[in-house]
Order: sequence, then structure tokens, then C-alpha cells
Amino acid sequence: MAAFSELVFSGVQPTGNLHLGNYLGAIRRFVEMQARDAQCLYCVVDLHAITLWQDPEALKAQIREVTAAFLAAGIDPRRSIVFNQSQVPQHAELAWVFNCVARLGWLNRMTQFKDKAGKDREAASIGLYDYPVLMAADILAYRATHVPVGEDQKQHLELTRDIAQKFNTDFAGSIVAHGHGDGEGTGFFPVTEPLIGGPAARVMSLRDGTRKMSKSDASDNARINLTDDADAIASKVRRAKTDSDALPSEVAGLAGRAEADNLVGIFAALKGITRDAVLAEYGGAQFSAFKGALVELAVETLSPIAAQMKRLSADPGHIDAVLADGSERAEAIAAPTLDAVKDIVGFVRRTRLRSV
Ligand code: TYM
Repeated sequence: MAAFSELVFSGVQPTGNLHLGNYLGAIRRFVEMQARDAQCLYCVVDLHAITLWQDPEALKAQIREVTAAFLAAGIDPRRSIVFNQSQVPQHAELAWVFNCVARLGWLNRMTQFKDKAGKDREAASIGLYDYPVLMAADILAYRATHVPVGEDQKQHLELTRDIAQKFNTDFAGSIVAHGHGDGEGTGFFPVTEPLIGGPAARVMSLRDGTRKMSKSDASDNARINLTDDADAIASKVRRAKTDSDALPSEVAGLAGRAEADNLVGIFAALKGITRDAVLAEYGGAQFSAFKGALVELAVETLSPIAAQMKRLSADPGHIDAVLADGSERAEAIAAPTLDAVKDIVGFVRRTRLRSV
């Protein structure tokens, strides 16, 4: 592998209905990261997907669809490593070691588990509870330094940092003894930097500005899907909830106006400008006019992606080849990490008995 100064990792679940929040909060930023001096790994996290029931045939289609969305959005599979999690066994293997590092009390604080498990917590899968530990393993199997995500992943990334630090502390002596120290302290795992930000770190529902735009919202009108055509986008934006006032001319005027704030944030992110810049142009405008401009911008950005996703989806063989190539390259980075972890933890590694 070429020596990059940063290693970027992020993942998206293949659970259907990829939406504008996934695109603006994550996938589009994955594309931007390719321009940095960084090795980027972008993973379709199928092991995470099955923490909630997935129909097996639909899951396969969804894995290929997320891969197609990555490529259609501009991720270059020669420059970045694009793969699905289940093809690289080191993720699950490292998660087990981390299960023995993470503390029950840490996981009990995870708000996303509480949201997803709902009232009947006893009926939730153990995988759903353990979800953030697998996420830490995803990131640290590559010793990733930077992780671009939406704001809803902040707590999970804090847990990743806690796990890395506890591992480094618990095994400090062994890390040095095996020559895996960083020379400055005893760190084997980096304390990963979350990259959360921009006007679309948290895109909200089009029907309720206080709730996150989500794949699982019962109302399809609450989100813009990456596969929506121009008519669907136009109808959803025009029906988006707003208040009856004109747009303010300054960001402070968006306080207490969740729906207005959300639409301005979406506009800003699509155009690559700040909320201030949007309001400098549209302050005083009525929503009808602003929504017209937003439709135009959204269609202009999303239509080529939807069209390319459709083209790519017609050739699953190509998608599978991209995933196979990415998985091999990912494993080439993760396998030495796991070898080192085994030495550090005190396992006896398999010695080669005969040449193959
Ligand atoms: P997932 O599949 O739920 O979402 C994928 C990415 O989209 C972001 N996102 C949003 N951003 C802004 N506004 C929204 N409404 C919105 N909804 C979703 C998410 O923050 C995420 O960045 N746990 C992760 C997947 C994962 C992962 C990882 C991420 C597994 N292992 C390791 C980073 C590193 C998730 O559920 O993503």
C-alpha cells in the first residue's frame, strides 16, 4: 500500500431507501475525501444490517444498491477501497476481542440502541446491542485516523475512541514488548478523529423538522430517496412542511423554525455554500419561490446519480467484481492488524505446517 498520511474509513448499511441525509451527511463527503492525501475505505456494512431482520434476497440487492450508489456518487474504486464487510473476516474477529475490552456500562449508554430496540428491549437481538463494538472493529481493523459520518454517529465514534484507549492502556506492556508501540507512548490503535460537520450533518424529515430523515420512516414523503425521479423530488419538496413566514435574512432568524432551518441547510449542502450565503440570496423570499429553486438544485444534483445507479444495477457482475477486488485490498490491510492484535493479546498464532 502506498504511504498515505491519513486513513479514512466509513460505512453505510444496506438496509434500503438510501436518502438525501445519507448522501449529504456521508456519501458526498466520502467523495470529497478522495481528494486528500488519504487511503479511503468505504464499506457496505452488511454485518450491521442483520442486527435487524433482513429478507435474504432483498439484502443481496441492497448490498449491490449501496455499492452502486457509492460509485454513482463519484467514489472511484481504483483510488478508494469499496467492499462489503462480510467478505473481510477480520471485522467480526476484532469485534470479539473488543467485546472483551468494552464495558457493559458503556454500551448501556448508547442512545441509538434504545431508539432502535424500542419498548421491548428483551426482544432485541444481541447484535443490535453490540452494534457499536462492531463499528469500532470496522474502523480500528484498519487503524483508521478519520471517519466521516453524520451527526447521529457521534456517540458511536466516542465509544470507538474509548475502546482504542482502553486497549492501548490494558495492553501497554505487551504492545511495547511486541514492537507495536508508536514510539511516543504505547498506542497501537489511533484515537480516531470523527469528521462531522457542514450544513447537512443532520438532515431532518421533510414532514417533521424535529425528526431525523431516516430510511425507516413510515412516510416516503419524509425523505428524498437517491432513486427518486425528478417528479417525486419535486412533489416531496413542494409538500415539505414549512411555516407561513418568509425566509429570514440571517441564520439567527431560523431559531425555533426547524423546518425552515432544514430546507435552508439542505439547499446550502447541495450547493456547497453556508446557510448565511443561502439567506443572503433568499432572505425575505416566500417558501413557494425558495422551494422552486430547491427542487431545481436537488434534481440537478441527484438525477445523474439516480441514472448512473440504474445503469450500474443492470450489471451485478461488475458490482460483485468491484466488491471482490475491494475486499481483497481491505483484507491485505486488516490481516496484519489482526496478527498484531493476536500477539498483543497473547494468542498463539497458527504456524505454517506445510507450504501450499
Ligand atoms: P447508516 O447506514 O445509518 O447511515 C450512513 C451514513 O449516513 C449518515 N446519515 C445522515 N446524515 C445526515 N442526516 C441524516 N438524516 C442522516 N441519516 C444517516 C450516517 O450518519 C452515516 O454516516 N453505523 C453506521 C454505519 C457504520 C459505520 C461504521 C460508519 C458501520 N460501521 C464505521 C462509520 C464507521 C450507520 O448506521 O450508518
